[in-house]
Amino acid sequence: MTTKITTNRDADQPSRNSNSSDAHCGDDAPPPGSQASVDPALRPTFADRGLSTQCVHSGELRQKPEGSITQPIFTASTYTFASTDDLLRFVHGEDQREEYGRYGSPNEKSVEAKLAALDNAEDAILYSSGMAAIVGLLMTKLNSGDEIVFFDQCYHRSREFCAKTMSRFGVVTHQVPTGDFGAMEAAINDRTKIIVSESPTNPHLTSVDLEKFVAVGKANEVETLIDATLATPYNLRPIDYGVDYVWHSATKYLGGHNDLLAGTIAGSRELLDPVRKMRGVLGSINSGHNLYLLERGLKTFELRMQRHNQNGMAVAEFLESHDRVERVYYPGLKSHPSHSIAAAQMRGFGGLITFTVKGADWKETSRVVDAAKIARIAPSLGGVESLIEQPLVMSYYNCTPEERQRFGIADNMIRLSCGIEDTADLISDLKQALDA
Ligand SMILES: Cc1ncc(COP(=O)(O)O)c(C=O)c1O
Repeated sequence: MTTKITTNRDADQPSRNSNSSDAHCGDDAPPPGSQASVDPALRPTFADRGLSTQCVHSGELRQKPEGSITQPIFTASTYTFASTDDLLRFVHGEDQREEYGRYGSPNEKSVEAKLAALDNAEDAILYSSGMAAIVGLLMTKLNSGDEIVFFDQCYHRSREFCAKTMSRFGVVTHQVPTGDFGAMEAAINDRTKIIVSESPTNPHLTSVDLEKFVAVGKANEVETLIDATLATPYNLRPIDYGVDYVWHSATKYLGGHNDLLAGTIAGSRELLDPVRKMRGVLGSINSGHNLYLLERGLKTFELRMQRHNQNGMAVAEFLESHDRVERVYYPGLKSHPSHSIAAAQMRGFGGLITFTVKGADWKETSRVVDAAKIARIAPSLGGVESLIEQPLVMSYYNCTPEERQRFGIADNMIRLSCGIEDTADLISDLKQALDA
């Protein structure tokens, strides 16, 4: 077989393939092979099947190397070509395969296709953490002079990244009260590129009306991004509402076992294509071992979420009935101000609960945390082990009292991530901790 060699300088030569506008012109420039992972012909999506069937099978090659039922772990940093013709077939986009580890791996393709299926998205891109995912997206999408508007209960590191780092590159960040669509519209102008919200938010568990959020985006011709880490694709699928980008810290419920960090952005192939190319430059990718753990965790995602939802609801109801508890923030409780929004758009309400201890100062509150015998004291959420923390002395310890007041972080606040332990055990353990 003869293969025609085209170079970047040959203006009158045909291009390498239909989607390779950025040429493969450097020893490790993003190649045509950094394409979307979802190829339904190779990797069935099982789109018409139930969620657990998708968790187990979606996105995977039906026949894996050596007939292995599980996806083998690829450790390669680079991938070999049998010949120059073989290489040129790849460069011309005729062979969809791996080339260099920073652009992707077989493990990554499999997990990305599964994540896209779970979110009902055309594509999903994996990163080495949730923060790496949002940084990768915003670095791709925002230019100097562009503006971004956040609802102010969004994950604080994402807002901080925009306000303190993207500002160095001329990007302007606005923060408006969560759920205040009037304030969001007022902050949007013709330089605004993206509006961002979390739903439900952490730690106040506020749900944002996605129909309204998308309507504001469309009316103003700006892209929309939802951090659905707390909701997960089991409880909420923002793509179905027309949201452009869905962001998850896969460190939480998607991985689900408190044993990995990862992040993902799901959306349309067209919008994600430049983001994927930038990820190939940033290099914020996962090892084969990490991806294997994430894929294994995802197999039981629906089962775990059912128990997280069950535990969250039962524990929230227990806490609301306890004399020592002042207030409970949980989207499934009617007492939550945005309960009706959550009830209308979520399938379940997750495992995260925030509550305050009646009349307690920070020290008395920390005694409740210390008395828990099942939940462990740690940041993070969404894993099989229950975790408990006092935001004042965990994520917000370095804030001033005024900042904590602005963020709504009370001294007597406790955040509990219900794991998948037995419901009755979690309740009896919290009861003894509150009664101690
Ligand atoms: C809601 C939410 N979004 C994003 C992130 C960032 O994810 P990661 O820690 O995987 O970078 C977190 C982390 O705590 C989070 O809670």
